[in-house]
Amino acid sequence: MAADETGVAPTRFLRLLVITFAIAFIVTVIVFHRLTERYIRPIDLVADTTIELAKGNYSARAGWTAPGIQIGLVTAVNALARNLQEMDSMRETEAERLETLIANMGSGLLMIGRNSEISMANTFFLNQIGLKEDRLIGSPYKAARLPDALVTLIDTVSVREKPVTEQIDIETDKGSHTMAVYSAPVIDKHGGWLGIVVVMHDISELIRLERIRKDFVANVSHELRTPVTSIRGFSETLMDGAIHDQEAAMQFLDIIHNESGRLEMLIEDLLDLSKIEKEGYTIRLQTVRVEDVIGRSISSVSGRLKNREMTIRSVCPPDLFVMADPERLVQVLVNLLSNAVSYSKPGTHIKVTATESAGMASISVADQGIGIPAEELPRLFERFYRVDRARSRDSGGTGLGLSIVKHIMELHNGTISVESEPGKGSTFTINIPLSHQ
Ligand SMILES: Nc1ncnc2c1ncn2[C@@H]1O[C@H](COP(=O)(O)OP(=O)(O)OP(=O)(O)O)[C@@H](O)[C@H]1O
Ligand SMILES: [Mg+2]
Repeated sequence: MAADETGVAPTRFLRLLVITFAIAFIVTVIVFHRLTERYIRPIDLVADTTIELAKGNYSARAGWTAPGIQIGLVTAVNALARNLQEMDSMRETEAERLETLIANMGSGLLMIGRNSEISMANTFFLNQIGLKEDRLIGSPYKAARLPDALVTLIDTVSVREKPVTEQIDIETDKGSHTMAVYSAPVIDKHGGWLGIVVVMHDISELIRLERIRKDFVANVSHELRTPVTSIRGFSETLMDGAIHDQEAAMQFLDIIHNESGRLEMLIEDLLDLSKIEKEGYTIRLQTVRVEDVIGRSISSVSGRLKNREMTIRSVCPPDLFVMADPERLVQVLVNLLSNAVSYSKPGTHIKVTATESAGMASISVADQGIGIPAEELPRLFERFYRVDRARSRDSGGTGLGLSIVKHIMELHNGTISVESEPGKGSTFTINIPLSHQ
């Protein structure tokens, strides 16, 4: 019995011990698993996410979503990632905006780094100087084949450490251009040298317009002075006694009369030109039969043909209609025809031809006159421009006719062109939109 009792008790005790250990083990495993899930795994996930963020992948998130378990660290790291992503996208937008601004700023921009290497050049700048970006970026500005005047300007800025504004002329494949250049040192808040910035603006067109304006004022004064001097001179001669010599008096009065006529013509042309050039000046476009306009223009110059033994022939389809202001179109043709008469020898012929092509009517006035040298053609439509000043003034011209013609054609959305050969003759052609009644 006692042996039995002593034999049973340890076995039972052992079994109890095993069960207790088993339960303790299972409980430990469960507790350990719970702890791992709650504390260790989120830390691993956060660590992985942080590594991704550090690599620049701002879309990484600690995506741990065990139900009922909230760990502040995961939420915090995700919030941090979200902020970083937002900041990154804001930075990208800002960078894009800046890039677009630099590319489209309408001026050339060049940046030179602290080691004198070119760090940035926008497309505008590259076009202005006719170089390619790959040759420029990273190379020292002195070795980048920049225009000499620009290199000198940059040198000045780096020596003086002060902004410099200058006008420089630049030669490119497309010709010579005048540039307004502003260059300044880039210095940070603590006075550290960061480099030099250059902003360049093409002002060739402005300079050209300024020259035309100055020429215009000079020309007007000159053109007015000539007849006024003549009128003053002859009237003084008359007052000094010539009035008593009937024959001389008549001759002088005749000159005074002619010169005042010239003066009047000049003023009328100037007023006409300023009226046409004025912003907002409109013409009344209507359907006009080209044949009628040509007929009216020829008859208006016919008075001058007879004593020069000249003839005008015209060829025009009767059903050719254009959109035009009839009075202005007659003015254009009368101008071209009077030039053809004035600058041709007696006995020659003028031909007016109207044709139609590609939605436009073209009317050409061809003469067999003295012609115009090729080098004079580009300036022909400028105000007061005359091929041969003396010759043109003899013909009574003011030099404003063709510039008025050009403006009228522009108001009609049309064009004017000229072909000429000295000694053989000239052909002026206007193109004007057709009317589709
Ligand atoms: N058909 C032509 N043949 C030869 N030269 C011409 C012809 N038409 C124009 N020219 C030249 O072009 C210049 C400018 O012509 P434009 O008609 O503008 O002035 P203009 O005839 O001198 O004066 P106006 O203002 O009185 O017409 C003329 O001075 C002349 O030298
Ligand atoms: Mg003329």
